[in-house]
Amino acid sequence: MKKRVCLKVPKRYGEKAIVAANKLKIFDRALKVQRDEGFVYIPLIRRPSEKEFETLRNQAPNCSVSTNIFSEKKKPITTFVELLADKLPPHLLASLPRSIDFVGDIAIVEVPPELETRKELIGEAILKAHKNVHTVLAKAGAVSGTYRLRKFDVIAGEPKTETVHKEHGCRYCVDLAKAYFSPRLSYEHNRVASLVKEGETVVDFFAGVGPFSILIAKKHEKVKVYAIDVNPNAIELLNKNIRLNKVHNKVHPILGDAKKIVEKRLFSVADRVIMNLPEKAIEFVDAACKALKPEGGTVHFYSFVKASDSMGNLTQKFVSAVESSGRTVEKVPFSRLVRATAPYEWQAVLDAEIR
Ligand SMILES: C[S@@+](CC[C@H](N)C(=O)[O-])C[C@H]1O[C@@H](n2cnc3c(N)ncnc32)[C@H](O)[C@@H]1O
Repeated sequence: MKKRVCLKVPKRYGEKAIVAANKLKIFDRALKVQRDEGFVYIPLIRRPSEKEFETLRNQAPNCSVSTNIFSEKKKPITTFVELLADKLPPHLLASLPRSIDFVGDIAIVEVPPELETRKELIGEAILKAHKNVHTVLAKAGAVSGTYRLRKFDVIAGEPKTETVHKEHGCRYCVDLAKAYFSPRLSYEHNRVASLVKEGETVVDFFAGVGPFSILIAKKHEKVKVYAIDVNPNAIELLNKNIRLNKVHNKVHPILGDAKKIVEKRLFSVADRVIMNLPEKAIEFVDAACKALKPEGGTVHFYSFVKASDSMGNLTQKFVSAVESSGRTVEKVPFSRLVRATAPYEWQAVLDAEIR
C-alpha cells in the first residue's frame, strides 16, 4: 500500500480524467485506481502544476487534488523463470534453461542434470507462462542415427510428440519422435527458398517433413521439387504436408537413399541440390554433382564445423570432393555459420556454383 497525491474526480468523469492524466504523463500506472460511492481517486506521480490542473479540470469539472492510500498493481507474470523464482533455490534458478524451442503447441527444453528431479515443476511453469503450449518435452539425448532423431521425455501436459507447426505461411505435421524437425532452421529454409528461380528443378536430398521443398513450391509458380528421404515416417508426414499445403503438382516425394535415387532416376535433372545432412553430406557430394544438369547449378551444402575448423577448411574439403567427381566449383557466393549445435560446434552452410 502506498500513500500518494491523487486526483479526486466525480465518478462520471473518471475515465476522461484518467486519459487526461495519462496524456500529461502524471498518472501513476503502477498503482490501482480507487473508487467509492461518488468519486474516483486517480494516483499521480506528483502534484499537477496549475496549467496541468486546468487541463484536468476541463475534462473533469469539480475535480480536486487530494491524497489517498493505493494498492500496487500485480505485475503480469511473463516468464516461466519468474514463476519459479520462489520455488527453487538461487543456484538452481541460475541453471534453468536459457532457451525454449516451440514446435506447434509443443515446447522443448534441455534440462541440466542438477534440475533433473525438478523437471516436472519446470514443465508446469512453462505451461502456465505459455498459454498456447499444451505439451512440454525435455531432450533426453542427442540427435543420432540415420534418421537424425532424438529421444524426449514428456515433462508436462498432453503426452504427445505430434503437432502442426507453422513456418513462413506453410503448415507442417510434425512428429518429433518419428522424423527430424527443428524450428532453428526456419531462417535457412526461407533463405534457400528465396534463392530459387522460376522454372528450376530442385532436388532436396534429405527432405525430412518438407520445410525446404514445400516452401520452395509455395513461393514459386513454376518449379519441380524432388524431395527424398530414407525415413518412411518422414515421407509419410511429407505426403501429408504436401496435401496440407496444396503443392502436390510441384513436390514429388521419394522414399529411399539419395545416392541410389539419383543413380536410378534423377541423373542430370537439377538446377539446384539441397544437402541438409550436416554430419554426412560430404559423402553425397558425388551424387549431388551427378544430379545437377550437365551445364551445372547450385548446391547448398551443410556441414558441422568445430572451433578449430575454419570455413576455409570446409570450403577446401567441399571443393576437393566436387573435383573428385569430375566437376568444378566456379564460386562460393555465400557461406555462414547457421547455428551452434554443441559446445564448440556449429552447423555451417556453403552455397556453391558448380560447373
Ligand atoms: C537433418 S534432417 C533434415 C531434414 C530437413 N531438410 C529439415 O530441414 O528439417 C536429415 C534428414 O536426412 C534423412 N536421411 C539420412 N540419410 C539419408 C539418405 N542416405 N538419403 C536420404 N535421406 C537421408 C534423415 O532421415 C533426415 O530426415
